[in-house]
Amino acid sequence: MPTVVVAPAGQEPYDLLVERGALGALARAVGEGTGAVALVADARVFGLWGERARAALAPTHRRVVPLIFPDGEASKTRETWARLTDALVAAGVGRDGVVVGLGGGVTTDLAGFVAATYARGVPWVAAPTTLLGMVDAAVGGKTGVDLPAGKNLVGAFHHPRAVVADVDALATLGNELVDCGVAEMVKHLLVGGGGAADFAALARWRASGPAWLDDAADHVAASVAIKAAVVREDPQEAGRRAVLNLGHTVGHALERVSGYDLPHGLAVAIGLAVEARITVAAGLAPPEVAVAVAAALAALGLPARLPAGVAPAAVLAATAVDKKGLGGRARYALLAGVGRPARGPAGWTHDVPDAVVLAALEASR
Ligand code: GLY
Repeated sequence: MPTVVVAPAGQEPYDLLVERGALGALARAVGEGTGAVALVADARVFGLWGERARAALAPTHRRVVPLIFPDGEASKTRETWARLTDALVAAGVGRDGVVVGLGGGVTTDLAGFVAATYARGVPWVAAPTTLLGMVDAAVGGKTGVDLPAGKNLVGAFHHPRAVVADVDALATLGNELVDCGVAEMVKHLLVGGGGAADFAALARWRASGPAWLDDAADHVAASVAIKAAVVREDPQEAGRRAVLNLGHTVGHALERVSGYDLPHGLAVAIGLAVEARITVAAGLAPPEVAVAVAAALAALGLPARLPAGVAPAAVLAATAVDKKGLGGRARYALLAGVGRPARGPAGWTHDVPDAVVLAALEASR
């Protein structure tokens, strides 16, 4: 089974197991000799994969406590965190318990945060069922919930004990959810040494029809390996890990302005295009970089322009609440070239004049 070792500095290393049928390895990932297993999933994912996960755990873990919540980003709240935590108490899950997050990024962020805080921290295993979850959200220990003021404003770093990515789950995703994951894979190539051949291979895979599942494990593993290398060096985003936020300052602002109607990955795709223009306007890279980013997104059928009716000034205003901002100003991860993040005088993020951001947003309408 393709395995990527994630070894964050100063933390226990853990494996990401990725292949068709990987859920069968869930009990091994959870570990023997544990107490109850709290299986956190939204109602939709539990209906699709919950019984398979339970069956995988049954031989070694007699007590599986399903904790089910309504699907959607609207559930990633303090209120859901409180309900799930109360349910763990009610079910008598002790400090020997393990939380499993089975689902997309909302679920693994939420389940990881429940695990980070319950009884001052219990272990957890991420079992991502979306492409975005497999290549990004479930790996690297970022957990948390959204506040009305912004996404992920409350959270903790709490690395999972293992990540079990069953690519069979990708067969149940609609096109839009696949696109969301592909956008994060583009981001990884842009900051992790990707070149024209890598973008072309990604586009060929995306267009390969039903057979794409057969090659999915290799593509997921390659993408996660880029993230793992960054997380190894800087697990808590003290510096270099910020490069993984490429496309996200504008992306999060677009999500906010759309009232969270625009899915995260599509917002990130547009954010990558806009932030490539910002990179060029800031003099960090030649114009060919923005052209190459736009071409890579187009070849993958990903959006690169602001949705109709979205005002650039509103997007600029929404960047101010981004949690990565310092002193109320947004910070941008930018590029030095295709495959290379830009390091500036203040490190891996950049303070960009509002006029530059606004011009890039205007040019992306
Ligand atoms: N999604 C970016 C990171 O995990 O740092």
